[in-house]
Amino acid sequence: MRLQYSIAGLSLASIAAATPFPHLKYRQNNSSTACAAVSASVATQTVSAGALPTVPAQLAYECITSVPLNKTAALTLINDVRPYFLWQSTTAYLKDPPKEYVEKIQDAVDVWGGLDVIEGKVKNGTFKNEYEFGWSLYRLLQSTHDGHFVYVPDVIGTVFNFGRPVPLVSVSEDGKKLPEAFVYPDILAASFGNATFTPSPITTINGQDAKEYLENWSQYGSLQDRDALYNNVFYELAVVSLGTSGSGMGTFSGGGRGRWVYPGAITELEFANGTKTTYTNFAKVLVEFDGITDGESLYQKLFTYPKPSETESTEAATTSPAATTATTTIAKATAAAASTPAPGYPPPVFRESHNLIGGYYIDESDYSDIAVLSVPSFVSLDAAEIPFQQVSEKFLAAARAAGKTKLIIDVSANGGGTILQGYDLFKQLFPHIEPYGATRFRAFESTDLIGSKLSEVAEGLPRTVDTDNETLLELEYDVVSSVFNYQTDIDVNGKNFENWDDKFGPQHHHNDNFTNIIRWNLSDILTPLNSGGIWVHGYRNLTNGTQPFKSEDIIVVTDGYCASTCTIFSELMRQQANVKYVALGGRPREGIIQAVGGVKGTNNFPWGTIQYYAQDTFNLSTPEEAAQLNKTELGSYWSDVPFYRAAPGTSLNVNFRDGIREGDDSEEQIPLHFQYEPADCRILYTKEMTVDVTNVWKAVADSAWGGKNRCVAGSLPGSNSTVPYRKHKRGTEFGRRAAETIEKRRQQWKSTMSIQDYPMDVFTDLRRSSLDGDAIMYP
Ligand SMILES: *[C@@H]1O[C@H](CO)[C@@H](O)[C@H](O)[C@H]1NC(C)=O
Ligand SMILES: *[C@@H]1O[C@H](CO)[C@@H](O)[C@H](O)[C@H]1NC(C)=O
Ligand SMILES: *[C@@H]1O[C@H](CO)[C@@H](O)[C@H](O)[C@H]1NC(C)=O
Ligand SMILES: *[C@@H]1O[C@H](CO)[C@@H](O)[C@H](O)[C@H]1NC(C)=O
Ligand SMILES: *[C@@H]1O[C@H](CO)[C@@H](O)[C@H](O)[C@H]1NC(C)=O
Ligand SMILES: *[C@@H]1O[C@H](CO)[C@@H](O)[C@H](O)[C@H]1NC(C)=O
Ligand SMILES: *[C@@H]1O[C@H](CO)[C@@H](O)[C@H](O)[C@H]1NC(C)=O
Ligand SMILES: *[C@@H]1O[C@H](CO)[C@@H](O)[C@H](O)[C@H]1NC(C)=O
Ligand SMILES: *[C@@H]1O[C@H](CO)[C@@H](O)[C@H](O)[C@H]1NC(C)=O
Ligand SMILES: *[C@@H]1O[C@H](CO)[C@@H](O)[C@H](O)[C@H]1NC(C)=O
Ligand SMILES: *[C@@H]1O[C@H](CO)[C@@H](O)[C@H](O)[C@H]1NC(C)=O
Ligand SMILES: *[C@@H]1O[C@H](CO)[C@@H](O)[C@H](O)[C@H]1NC(C)=O
Repeated sequence: MRLQYSIAGLSLASIAAATPFPHLKYRQNNSSTACAAVSASVATQTVSAGALPTVPAQLAYECITSVPLNKTAALTLINDVRPYFLWQSTTAYLKDPPKEYVEKIQDAVDVWGGLDVIEGKVKNGTFKNEYEFGWSLYRLLQSTHDGHFVYVPDVIGTVFNFGRPVPLVSVSEDGKKLPEAFVYPDILAASFGNATFTPSPITTINGQDAKEYLENWSQYGSLQDRDALYNNVFYELAVVSLGTSGSGMGTFSGGGRGRWVYPGAITELEFANGTKTTYTNFAKVLVEFDGITDGESLYQKLFTYPKPSETESTEAATTSPAATTATTTIAKATAAAASTPAPGYPPPVFRESHNLIGGYYIDESDYSDIAVLSVPSFVSLDAAEIPFQQVSEKFLAAARAAGKTKLIIDVSANGGGTILQGYDLFKQLFPHIEPYGATRFRAFESTDLIGSKLSEVAEGLPRTVDTDNETLLELEYDVVSSVFNYQTDIDVNGKNFENWDDKFGPQHHHNDNFTNIIRWNLSDILTPLNSGGIWVHGYRNLTNGTQPFKSEDIIVVTDGYCASTCTIFSELMRQQANVKYVALGGRPREGIIQAVGGVKGTNNFPWGTIQYYAQDTFNLSTPEEAAQLNKTELGSYWSDVPFYRAAPGTSLNVNFRDGIREGDDSEEQIPLHFQYEPADCRILYTKEMTVDVTNVWKAVADSAWGGKNRCVAGSLPGSNSTVPYRKHKRGTEFGRRAAETIEKRRQQWKSTMSIQDYPMDVFTDLRRSSLDGDAIMYP
């Protein structure tokens, strides 16, 4: 199952060179309404290709909150989203989470109760306009901090994206003192020796204590862990390297989920040196405003949809699981991919062109033993699953040949992607370990009806891709390889399920019903249909390699932004391979923090996929059966209203599957989502790390193996050693020479780095991108 969006292929470098923020002078003239003023302002702006007009945030907010509430339409939407909420695997746990989760992670959320309250408020007139309704609905899901559970109503994401004209960073002066927030351009200017002042930390924001303000603001993010959320407020090199498909320059300046939060008219920063600066916040205008005279005309233009009778078919809204897997892979792979710059990253040994994965060395004098695999995503952008897999394959071999004996894996900014890429990377590192990876989903009427039918149909079909029969091939994609076919995967003991009921269960846990434990059958012949085209190392024709690095010679570092597939990978690394994890940054508080701060669900389902499965079940049934089915819960997935009313380029998703730890046969069987897991070591960001990422990797290497401990909490096995690096002369002649070539390029890069390399207008824009994945959290 894969979702679609496209990448604009914007050149960040060219943007960086342009004026950072076009400040717009909005003057109230003969425009009588806020929306008319937006329209007038947009009409006067000429923006370069790929850029968007902007208006003052306050004007945009006045316009969007002038859209009247259509009660009938709001009640229809609430009614029609309900069937999809049933697929969210964690509602019972969210309502009544474990004590430690509430203490250390997030508050409980009653999703169903919350939806009822919203419905009640629509009915009794509490909401004064469409925006208040849409914001409540968006926030209900967002407040679960499950990055897989998302719905962005039109009024929230279709018209405007908000932002602040200044990105911040949070850094520790010396790597030991608690971090403070700074204006990032100040840090850059100082780093390049060009500032006429000493950057001063921010003490208050809009009159409120800066730390408190930023902690509160961070809660608008998609992540689960509060320290990870805090990091996501700021400008971060790993995030920026993802361009428009990441969370931009952080939520404070309108990246990621920050783009849907009205930041107020202005932002007033007060610095420790006494200076005060006031910025006017802005909104990007995402739609044409021709002919918009007021909130009512905006409603008519953008928030209405064809009546069911006018709809030709549901194709527009429905994503066929088949249409989104390997077929599209092949078609799209031919499109040449634009290369995305990665400011602050050294020249790579190998990298994927959008920086989704890349291999690096640090430097050949002091860190010659160390290789770094940077994996800010498991996604296949432009459907390039095989090239993605090949980067780690080639890099691990090159690193060995160059005599590297230690490996740092940097998963900062990793919102997940393709599940089986996570398994594959694990198997490349640990060929002898059989991944456990247990999952389950909600066992209820819809999943039972779909599973019974698809399993029955699959029983009459061969399990093969070796066919020219298009009809059969389609059935292989949609039905035979599906999780709703009990033959696709294996049980907790690695055995096949005997029939659908054997898989469905249900098991009763925590006041809800779930399937039995399901595990991936990685040697399944249909694996490529579930992986976008790859086989997993160690299975079928991709035989086991040799383990490239010992477990104790591998450290994984994260900024907490490790979600979805990244958490699947991390569960395997930590639980099964005993690899240590370093967490960067975090809130300005003492103590250890979590390394894995994103949703730990093991599979998201786009609502379009759910609708497709529901409707496919009808298609696979006899007319008599279909008439019967229409009287069941499965008859509630016909409406396209939730799709029409979602903002373009946003994710409509539920968390479909939970991850369950190996050996957990407890009564509660608490999903990984709800388990607190401290990192082994916490390292604070310093100014240098926000400008040159190799400073992050050096701090990790020093702490793990270098006799210079930078952990402010926790420790690594080598943290207490005082023995510095020993340089080895290993590898092959060819491998070492290759590393010397990289070193020359690195020195060249280092000497030509400049402020202009760091873009100041990277914004999340998923309207024209194509991020694919089956366990992915959208920024
Ligand atoms: C109205 O505002 C626009 C945008 O600022 C400006 O260009 C225009 O001159 C104004 N017109 C009048 C009549 O004041
Ligand atoms: C101001 O009003 C006049 C007359 O209605 C109209 O022609 C003109 O386009 C308006 N100007 C702006 C900037 O909206
Ligand atoms: C309100 O929504 C309903 C249902 O979609 C629609 O029939 C009606 O025309 C809308 N009202 C207005 C004023 O747009
Ligand atoms: C409207 O309904 C909501 C949700 O049931 C309730 O909390 C609120 O008190 C009600 N307000 C009024 C004015 O009745
Ligand atoms: C420093 O500032 C000077 C004068 O503004 C400029 O010419 C130079 O390019 C700047 N250097 C860097 C490294 O940005
Ligand atoms: C105080 O610090 C701010 C933020 O770094 C800076 O912009 C400003 O120039 C500084 N003021 C003085 C007088 O140094
Ligand atoms: C290859 O992988 C399989 C499955 O993970 C494992 O059982 C086997 O021991 C591995 N073989 C070698 C030689 O590592
Ligand atoms: C193609 O496969 C479908 C589904 O199994 C089957 O009904 C049909 O007869 C096959 N067509 C041919 C030409 O074999
Ligand atoms: C779980 O299944 C039982 C029947 O096996 C049913 O009575 C109960 O309502 C179900 N619980 C939920 C939350 O669906
Ligand atoms: C494995 O099989 C696939 C498809 O059958 C083929 O494309 C690929 O080249 C094979 N890989 C190896 C290592 O044989
Ligand atoms: C199911 O019922 C809906 C009305 O609720 C109707 O529009 C649809 O055609 C029915 N579909 C089938 C396959 O019976
Ligand atoms: C390193 O030393 C600290 C402080 O004495 C201790 O808490 C920690 O357990 C030690 N770490 C290791 C891996 O030995």
